[in-house]
Amino acid sequence: MARLKAGVLISGRGSNLLTLLEACAAPDFPVEIALVVSNRPEAGGLSHAQRFGVPATVIPHRDFPDREAFDRAVGAALEAAGVELVCLAGFMRIFSPWFPARWANRILNIHPSLLPAFKGLHVQQQAIDAGARVSGATVHLVTDDLDGGPIVAQAAVPVHPDDTADTLAARILKAEHALYPLALRWFGERRVRLVPQPGKPDRVVIDGIAPG
Ligand code: GAR
Repeated sequence: MARLKAGVLISGRGSNLLTLLEACAAPDFPVEIALVVSNRPEAGGLSHAQRFGVPATVIPHRDFPDREAFDRAVGAALEAAGVELVCLAGFMRIFSPWFPARWANRILNIHPSLLPAFKGLHVQQQAIDAGARVSGATVHLVTDDLDGGPIVAQAAVPVHPDDTADTLAARILKAEHALYPLALRWFGERRVRLVPQPGKPDRVVIDGIAPG
């Protein structure tokens, strides 16, 4: 089976991008990264792409009059590279409705909480402020409902009584680095199915994994 072509969108450090690049460098991994796009020229993750010989481009959001114009430029770059699945990895832009409609069920995001708890920004602080004993990471499909798309995979970590947002973020990030390549592999193996639920968002089923 041909390797699935992924595009990765970043805005910053790119540690999740790095774990995806490392995973995709293995000869038996069913996904290749065809393009990395950053909306910020100073994003540290761009150097990871370069090191792995993966094409990377900067599309600065400030160059565009509105969100949709930026989204269309990103979409055109991804299409030109033959991308089939888009992975957001610390991409800190909110899409216009155009992007998730155009790439429906083909956009993944990793989020540093156990969704649907703690959406938006500063989610590690949100977890601490709520007194949560457990938090974690979620890989989900992106819809126009911010941080609300179907959940693909989750990993839990404890929240310690003396945690700061930074110590919790570091613990969650480690879980992210194990979780994102795993979820990407499932897509590459074409094992991810969406099951419609009447009146509710679709549910994700991974073939070969017993539910529950
Ligand atoms: C990660 O913790 C990721 O989950 C989070 O940004 C960080 C990016 O780190 N993403 C979001 O909060 C998206 N809403 P990285 O650049 O080192 O991968």
